[in-house]
Amino acid sequence: MLFKQQALLRQKLFVLGSLAIGSVLYLVARVGTLDRLQPICPIDSRQPPPEPEQIPLRTLQFKRGLLHELRKGNATKEQIRLHNLVQQLPRAIIIGVRKGGTRALLEMLNLHPAVVKASQEIHFFDNDQNYARGIDWYRGKMPFSFPHQITIEKSPAYFITEEVPERIFKMNSSIKLLIIVREPTTRAVSDYTQVLEGKERKNKTYHKFEKLAIDSSTCEVNTKYKAVRTSIYTKHLERWLKYFPVEQFHIVDGDRLITDPLPELQLVERFLNLPSRISQYNLYFNATRGFYCLRFNIVFNKCLAGSKGRIHPEVDPSVVTKLQKFFHPFNQKFYQITGRTFNWP
Ligand code: A3P
Repeated sequence: MLFKQQALLRQKLFVLGSLAIGSVLYLVARVGTLDRLQPICPIDSRQPPPEPEQIPLRTLQFKRGLLHELRKGNATKEQIRLHNLVQQLPRAIIIGVRKGGTRALLEMLNLHPAVVKASQEIHFFDNDQNYARGIDWYRGKMPFSFPHQITIEKSPAYFITEEVPERIFKMNSSIKLLIIVREPTTRAVSDYTQVLEGKERKNKTYHKFEKLAIDSSTCEVNTKYKAVRTSIYTKHLERWLKYFPVEQFHIVDGDRLITDPLPELQLVERFLNLPSRISQYNLYFNATRGFYCLRFNIVFNKCLAGSKGRIHPEVDPSVVTKLQKFFHPFNQKFYQITGRTFNWP
């Protein structure tokens, strides 16, 4: 009897053990086959992907390791020769606007396997000395890439510099132009904050924002103040439109890029005719930073530098209202021209 009970117990234990081992083996097999770069959330199915494989992305994905080295600017001479890597002129430029979120946009687009970023602001078209060095100098500043990748650079000064549209047009009249904007008063305060921080670093004193933004003799908005002028987006855009049709521009909502970057990035992917590859997996909210950070893969992620996302000084609410009223008609015109409307006051 005792022997029979023991045998029954052994049998039960054997069955349970087999089940447990089976489950563990199944899980291991599943995890092993999962592609860790798969997005956590499916990409919005309402957006039809653009024509696939204008860029052979599959080839690129096999070369992820090399891509990573490319992104860090570490491709070796041997790799450059073996993989036919080239330095290409940009096919798209983030031309501005300063403090609109230009760095975040460039870094986030660089998550796309078909995009390679020029890490530094090159200032080729807005700086006469650099421009005089010629187009080969500019190309030499570009990162190595596979021939079917697109290179993107950003220099926010381009947007507001008189000579730049004509110079870019001469290089490539069909180039794609990205402009990232924020609510104009917030952008002006952000611009001021950056300058203020620079002064403080050098132990220099600086005026209050209110003093710079308002002309004390008229009590009106001081249109000579650069931070104000830069936020009159329509004035600058109109200069660009003398050279490029409006279809060649894409306006990015810099305020939404802060709070919900993925939809903005998907719009850019479409504008650049790239298959949708940036996913929610690539973007995670970092509560300490208070911003979205970037996840390239299971081991490599990064947040933007601390100079992005500064705390702005308090501004007198009456000055804020005055500025908002001042920008209002320019904003309306900007919406009209670009076809993109924002909820700016
Ligand atoms: P603030 O410093 O005013 O917050 P730019 O790169 O053109 O100089 O723009 C800087 C702005 O990018 C920052 O302005 C910040 O708000 C915004 N930004 C957008 N996305 C960001 C991100 N993921 N991390 C940090 N800053 C981001």
